[in-house]
Parts: sequence; structure tokens; C-alpha cells
Amino acid sequence: MQIAKTVAAFKEMRSAWDDQRFTVSLVPTMGALHAGHLSLLLPARQSDKLVVSIFVNPTQFGPHEDLQRYPRPLERDLALLDASGVDVVFLPSASEIYPEGYRTFVTVEELDSRLCGLSRPGHFRGVATVVLKLFNIVRPHRAVFGQKDAQQTIILRRMVRDLDLNVELIVQPIVREANGLALSSRNRYLNSEERKAATVLFRSLESARQTFLQGEKKSDVLLRLVRELIESERLARLDYAEIVSTDDLSPLFEVTTQALLALAVFVGSTRLIDNTVLNKT
Ligand code: PAJ
Repeated sequence: MQIAKTVAAFKEMRSAWDDQRFTVSLVPTMGALHAGHLSLLLPARQSDKLVVSIFVNPTQFGPHEDLQRYPRPLERDLALLDASGVDVVFLPSASEIYPEGYRTFVTVEELDSRLCGLSRPGHFRGVATVVLKLFNIVRPHRAVFGQKDAQQTIILRRMVRDLDLNVELIVQPIVREANGLALSSRNRYLNSEERKAATVLFRSLESARQTFLQGEKKSDVLLRLVRELIESERLARLDYAEIVSTDDLSPLFEVTTQALLALAVFVGSTRLIDNTVLNKT
């Protein structure tokens, strides 16, 4: 496995692949890898070359968020990627991606101010910007993302369409612990009591999904169920729970065919997100 720490070093490797007409997959990450990240490598392997980027992107963190304390277990991450057959890890520094004088940002308007955008202003502008930069540097044919960050995938799909990017986006299902807790790098901030409490996210999504499958279509009824369950958990505090269109995140008052039920919950001081797609079978 090769490691490229600069854009120039990566581009040099990449140009050799052009000569051989290799197809390339990219899996962008912020490191602190877990089985959720590793599940993204599977479809990525369909390409001739598999690139994983590890970059804790400062522009997607708010001023009071966890940029400084975001976990960075680099040696472990590299060992996992090496064992998974990754060809190249792109591991740039912040000044490599945002050099002195950097001024350009991508905003996917409206979609970036809904759901998580409300409590994390500027977050998706940082995500869209860094992902477009990674696409331009790596020039992947495919890029793989997780359904765990549903709003992120919807925003990136919009960006790919709006800017005519030649990248196929692949979205992989959420990987969960046996108790339903969605794997997340932020789970390590939870103590054992909070960890137990955090299963309320999945339990509330499942309860709403079952009720939907039994015929309840009204969003307010389904959302009330979610809120009641979250409120019943002493260590949990709801940030938002919404039922929205999977295309453009607009609120849906009734679920006819398909909808995204997404929520964010503080467990102690850690903010966790989760979601489920309500699908008429
Ligand atoms: P990060 O949080 O490291 O996640 C990297 C990728 O792993 C994302 O596509 C995310 O949706 C996926 N992922 C995380 N947990 C998952 C789980 N439990 N199951 C399946 N997939 C999961 O998302 C980011 O980084 C950044 O915003 C990034 C796209 C790298 C841009 O900086």
C-alpha cells in the first residue's frame, strides 16, 4: 500500500494509472476507521485501483465542535487499510488542502440548511468543498459513501448533478452494532451508560418504521412516537427528528411511497445521528 501525503505525490501516481486505463474508486474518510468505513471498501474494489483518503477536514467543523479532539489513530487506520487491500491512502495535511490564501467554497443551497444544517451551519459547505477537491485530485470513476450520513449523500448527489461531475456515487447501508447502535467514530466519546442510552436512536427509528409498515402514513404520528421514546431516555436529548423527501430533503406530511426519517440526538454531550428509509413494500 502506498501513502501519498501531498497533492503532487498523489497526482504522480494517478497519472501512471491513466496510461493503463485503470478505473479508480475513492472512499473519503476522516479516519478513526471502524467496520462502517470498511464496508465501503467492498463496492470500491470493483475498480482496478482503490484509494482511501484520510483527512479531518477543518472546514466542516463549527467553532465549538470537536475538531481538536477528533480521534486520529493513524497507525491503526493504516494497518486496517493495508490489510483490506487498499492501493493508495491519500493523507494530506490541512495546509496541503487549504493553502495560504484559500478562498473558494462550494455551497449546495437550501439542502445545506435543513436537518443537520440547522445546528451545524457551514458544515455541508465544508463537506461539499473538500469532496469536490478530493474528486479533482483523485479523479475517481466511483466514490463510495455511507447511508449513515444520509443528508451528506443527498447533498453530494446534487453537487455531482449540478456541476456535471463524472463520478458515480455509490451509497452503502448503515453498519450497526448488535444492539442497533450505528457505528460512528464519535461513539468512543460515550461512557458505558451513555452507550446503552444511545440505542434509543435505533429503537425509536424501528418503532416508527414498524408503525409505518402497519399502515400509519402521517408524519406527525410517526414523529411523535420517535420523540416520546427519545424523551423517555434520561441521558438523551433530541436535536431534531424529521420525515423528508429522499430527493431534496423537503418535509413530507404524509409518507406515500418513500421517505427519509432522520434524527440527531445528544447523548450526554455527544451528538449522534441516525436514519431509516421508510419504503412502501
Ligand atoms: P467520516 O465520518 O469519516 O465517514 C466516512 C464515510 O463512512 C462516510 O461516507 C460515512 O457515511 C461512512 N460511514 C460512517 N459510519 C458508517 C456506518 N456505521 N455504516 C456505513 N457507513 C458509515 O463523512 C465523512 O467522514 C466526511 O464528511 C467526508 C465525506 C470524509 C468529508 O470530509
